[in-house]
Amino acid sequence: MILAPSILAADLAHLAEEIAAVERGGASVIHVDVMDGQFVPNITLGPAIVRAVRRVTHLPIDVHLMVERPERHIDSFVDAGATWVSVHVEAVTHLQRAVASLSERGLQAGVVLNPSTPLSALEEILPEVDYVLLMSVNPGFSGQVFLPSALDKIRRLRATIRERGLRARIEVDGGITTENIRTVMEAGAEIIVAGVAAFAAGDPEASARGLIEACG
Ligand code: DX5
Ligand code: ZN
Repeated sequence: MILAPSILAADLAHLAEEIAAVERGGASVIHVDVMDGQFVPNITLGPAIVRAVRRVTHLPIDVHLMVERPERHIDSFVDAGATWVSVHVEAVTHLQRAVASLSERGLQAGVVLNPSTPLSALEEILPEVDYVLLMSVNPGFSGQVFLPSALDKIRRLRATIRERGLRARIEVDGGITTENIRTVMEAGAEIIVAGVAAFAAGDPEASARGLIEACG
């Protein structure tokens, strides 16, 4: 299991220390939530933050683009140091072109589904992606409650990937806690994002370690 703390829930005034702490706690990816106030109601982080994160960690930076027409911004995130980039299928008209342009730039290419978007939206693109991010909350904010319907969706996607013999890994994002992380992993998720559960208790190192230990 790869733990990917979402810095949206971190103390941004002490971002370097917060990242160092989750890294000591066992995190192996840093998740950056980019929101534009259009695709989702909130406005959050951008390339400047990715550039700052790149200076303080060697971990992969997983950029989750919750923006309209994300393909317009890929180059600025690549220049800033992103290593994984995911785009929402709901936000892109020419998804194959967007995914191909991520791969051509040497990135891990991901596609994201909102909770109400069916897995059938992945049918054609699945062989081309390195990971699928399944949202377990409606995107926009940290600290929301995990939607249990995500579990069956993870299981069905896991089965499809296995049956089709594909490489795509499953990432899950939203409402992860020490109580549900093991179930999410057992359903078939390999990469698990945690915002509030990683950062909000005041000891990110212990929180990250606790999430990993909760996986058993
Ligand atoms: C939701 C974001 C998530 C969020 C996770 O829109 O994509 O990455 O920050 O935060 P928690 O784990 O607190 O739900
Ligand atoms: Zn996210």
